[in-house]
Amino acid sequence: MKYALIGCGRIAPNHVGSAVDHNLEICALCDIHPEKAEALITRYHLKDVKIYTNYHKMLKEVRPELVAIATESGYHPQIAIDCIQNGCNVIIEKPLALSMEDARRVIAARDKAGVVACINQQNRFNAPVQLLRQAIDEGTMGKLLHGTLQMHWHRDADYYDKPSWRGTYELDGGALMNQCIHGIDLLRWMMGGEPTEVMAITDNQLHPYIEAEDIGLAIFRFRNGSYGVLEGTVNTYPDNLDETLSVYGETGTVQIGGIATNKLTCYTVKGETRSFQALSEEVNTEPKNVYGFGHSFLYADVIRAIQTGTQPYVPLEEGLKALEMVLAVYKSATEKRPVSFPLENYSTLDVLRSK
Ligand SMILES: NC(=O)c1ccc[n+]([C@@H]2O[C@H](COP(=O)([O-])OP(=O)(O)OC[C@H]3O[C@@H](n4cnc5c(N)ncnc54)[C@H](O)[C@@H]3O)[C@@H](O)[C@H]2O)c1
Repeated sequence: MKYALIGCGRIAPNHVGSAVDHNLEICALCDIHPEKAEALITRYHLKDVKIYTNYHKMLKEVRPELVAIATESGYHPQIAIDCIQNGCNVIIEKPLALSMEDARRVIAARDKAGVVACINQQNRFNAPVQLLRQAIDEGTMGKLLHGTLQMHWHRDADYYDKPSWRGTYELDGGALMNQCIHGIDLLRWMMGGEPTEVMAITDNQLHPYIEAEDIGLAIFRFRNGSYGVLEGTVNTYPDNLDETLSVYGETGTVQIGGIATNKLTCYTVKGETRSFQALSEEVNTEPKNVYGFGHSFLYADVIRAIQTGTQPYVPLEEGLKALEMVLAVYKSATEKRPVSFPLENYSTLDVLRSK
C-alpha cells in the first residue's frame, strides 16, 4: 500500500515507525523543512522515498493510497480535505480540527469521497483501556456512576518555544486541546458517549508566553445519568507524572494510570475471576514516552479497514466528539456558565476573540 506522511516533526517517528511495522510502501515524506524528512529517511534507513515540500505536488505525482497528516493542528482540516479529494485514505493526527465547522467539513468530504479516514486517538488501543471497554460493553461494571480523567503532565518554556505554534489559538490550543484530548476522548467514550452539559474553568498559571490554558478543570453530566470530572494540567513539577482514567460503576471500579493510561492500578469488577496481578501482567505496558505504542495498532486497524472496505475503529466522528468536549470546556470557561451539548459552532478563535 503506497503511503506518504505530511508533517515530519516531533510525532513523525511514530508514524514512520508504524508504517515500517506494517510493511507499507513509504513513497514520500513531505515537510516545508525538507531536512526533517531527510532525518527520518536516515533514521529508518528508508530507500526510494521522495521528499516534497509541497503536498499538493506530492499528491499529484505520487498518488498515495494512505496519507498520514501530522502538521500543526490548525492545518489538519484543509490538508485532510485536499488529500481526501485526491482519493487518499487518511490518518489525521489529533485534534481533528480547532473548530466544529472545520471538523464537519472534513467529515463531509470523507462521506463524498467514500475513503477510509481515521483520527489518531491512539490510546483507545492501550490494552488496559480495551479491558475496561470490554467490561463496560459486557455490562459487568453495572450502571455507570462517574468517571474521572486526571492528566498531570509537564511542559516547559523550551517545549512551547520550539516551534512557536504551540499554545496559540490559531494553530493549537492549550493543555486540554493538545495534550489532554486523548484522555478526554477516553472519558467520553467510557461514560456512554453523550455529554449533556459541562461547567469548566481554565487558566494559565505558569506559561505567560502562550495564549491558551495550561490547566483546565471541568465537570460533565452525561445522558445516561453518570458524571465526568476532568483535571488536566501541564504544570506538574518536575515532569510528566500520570494520565489516569477512573471509572466507577455500580458493580465495578477500574483505574488505569501510568504516564498515558497504560497501566492498571485498580480492577475490581463483580464476577471477575482473574487476579489483579494476572490481569496487570497481561495488559500493562512501559512506554518510553507519553505517546505510547498506540500508533502501530491504529495503523494496523486502518490498513484492515482499507483492505476490507469497512469503518476504522476510531472514525472521524470520534475526533469530532473529542473536539466538541474540549471546545465546550473552552466555551464554559470563557463565558463563566454551564454549556449544553451538542455544541453547534465554536472554535479556539472564539476564545481568543472574547479575551
Ligand atoms: N497522537 C499523539 O500522541 C501526538 C503527539 C504529539 C503531537 N501530536 C499531534 O501531531 C501534530 C504535529 O505535532 P508535532 O509535535 O509533531 O509538531 P511539529 O511542529 O514538531 O511538526 C509539525 C511539522 O509539520 C510541518 N508542516 C507544516 N505545514 C506543512 C505543510 N503545509 N506541508 C508539509 N509539512 C508541513 C512543519 O514544518 C513541522 O515540521 C499536532 O497536531 C499534534 O497535536 C499527536
